[in-house]
Amino acid sequence: MVAAQAENPWWQKTTVYQIYPRSFLDTNGDGVGDLPGILSKLDYLCELGVETLWLTPFFDSPQRDFGYDIRSYGQVAPEHGTWADFDELLAAVHGRGMRLVLDMVLNHTSDQHPWFREALRRQDSQERDFYIFRPGRGKDGRLPPNNWRSMIGPRGWHRDPASGEWYFASFLPFQPDLNHRNPKAQQAMLAIIEGFLRKGVDGLRLDIFNALYKDAGFLNNPPSLRPLPSEDNADGFFQRNRYTINHPDSIAFARKLREFVDNIPGGPRFLVGEVFGPPALLRAYCGERGDGLNLVFLFKSLRTEFSASAFHDLIAEYEREFPSPLLPTWVLGNHDRARYIERVGDDPRRAKVLATLQLTARGVPFLYQGEEIGLTNLDLPISSALDPLAHTYRFVPPWLQRRLRRQGVLINRDECRTPMQWSTADNAGFSPPGTRPWLPVHPNYPWTNVAVQQADSQSLLSHYRSLLKLRRQLPSLHAGSLTLWHPTNLPHSVLGYRRQSGSESVDVLLNFAPRIVEVSLPEPRQKLYSTHQESLLLDGRRLRLRPLECVILTSPSQGVGP
Ligand code: GLC
Ligand code: CA
Repeated sequence: MVAAQAENPWWQKTTVYQIYPRSFLDTNGDGVGDLPGILSKLDYLCELGVETLWLTPFFDSPQRDFGYDIRSYGQVAPEHGTWADFDELLAAVHGRGMRLVLDMVLNHTSDQHPWFREALRRQDSQERDFYIFRPGRGKDGRLPPNNWRSMIGPRGWHRDPASGEWYFASFLPFQPDLNHRNPKAQQAMLAIIEGFLRKGVDGLRLDIFNALYKDAGFLNNPPSLRPLPSEDNADGFFQRNRYTINHPDSIAFARKLREFVDNIPGGPRFLVGEVFGPPALLRAYCGERGDGLNLVFLFKSLRTEFSASAFHDLIAEYEREFPSPLLPTWVLGNHDRARYIERVGDDPRRAKVLATLQLTARGVPFLYQGEEIGLTNLDLPISSALDPLAHTYRFVPPWLQRRLRRQGVLINRDECRTPMQWSTADNAGFSPPGTRPWLPVHPNYPWTNVAVQQADSQSLLSHYRSLLKLRRQLPSLHAGSLTLWHPTNLPHSVLGYRRQSGSESVDVLLNFAPRIVEVSLPEPRQKLYSTHQESLLLDGRRLRLRPLECVILTSPSQGVGP
């Protein structure tokens, strides 16, 4: 049976750590993080306890969108290293029993990609149809072919002065969209995927997967009243994206791609899609029988209010929409989003509550580098932003920028991409002393860094490490079912759920309030883990939770664990 086969492949139990190579560790002092830097920190990652590493693109690129504008998948960007560095890294990751996942940008290439250059050079080239070129409307075709906007607001069509035709770009103008309706273009992309997987790569993160297919008839998108898109509704900028986003052909392609990937020896592997839309639509990408993308990012957690009831409802929604064998994902941030700790007042105690939830609820957690030490956003002026997205929104005043950031929206993504903070050394140990990192290091590095937190058993880093260890050890946490405690049995500020696998069960209780509360337990339990040192289990049936305390309980017969 399908369900039996789908039981427990590694990717269902894993935890993913996202590395943004440019900001992870710079070994040669050019200010830019590199593959040897990642290699040199594998022991750190292994001890932290994450199991899968996702690397954002490190391929040859003009770096206008810092790697998401790929010029050639055939080459590693020289600032990041070489293929030999990559092969060494992959072997070392596997040698530690870990997995490596790459980022695949199927939707577009850089405008400097040889295909696009050829497409511009010769209108009758085969490459011309690898992209989406159309004649314009109006006198001399001076108006764009239709009203389609890019995902980020401005219009999606850009004029090629030589031919007078227009090409479409879902993101920035220098990222022309590939034409997935052209089988040759698509096969060329699939061949790249095949090459990576045959090398031993364990899976792919699929960049803006919901934009791959557009309407073949180029119908105009209908108007909408929505100013901005959100996690569960991709419409925005006063347009319904009916013909450009979440096209049925993109959903159908998810299944084709899964089949393609599953047929390459060396699996199982996983595909995780960056898609936006209501949960039912996102689920469609996973296929009705779990035969589409293995996972989709769920970003609602990024905007959920810090309260027991809000997260109770979110878990209930994910359980309803992604029932087993489907799995939700738990995301608190990434290289495009404001770092979550700012939303909780830069308070490590609150960060521990969200981290506990992320690592103990049912689903695959995706951690973004630096979250484990509470790296926060750096206030940076838009005028000197390196992020090209920021240039589109230059006019946004700083106060609005900060307000949006508290809601998780970043206009200047530099703010969440500052270098990883390793130690109290110059440049936080990211770049050798005396060099200038590509983005400034957050001035809080003397106390927010790996070395300091490693030495402190109560630090956020130690908390992540303990939880990751527990999660690996307990099948109930990495493979079990989830049942929410009924809120009426709990104080208002407490969220509780049980994870169960076979006869093993644990209860997770999270106190979202900065005050002491008491919980009565339905049966005697003992403490397996707490964010606070001394036990406040009053007797087997009553528990006193301190301000913002997180506890994990188990049955007395199950032993105390690690
Ligand atoms: C995705 C990436 C983002 C990039 C964009 C265009 O959203 O996460 O960083 O700029 O796609 O590729
Ligand atoms: Ca470097």
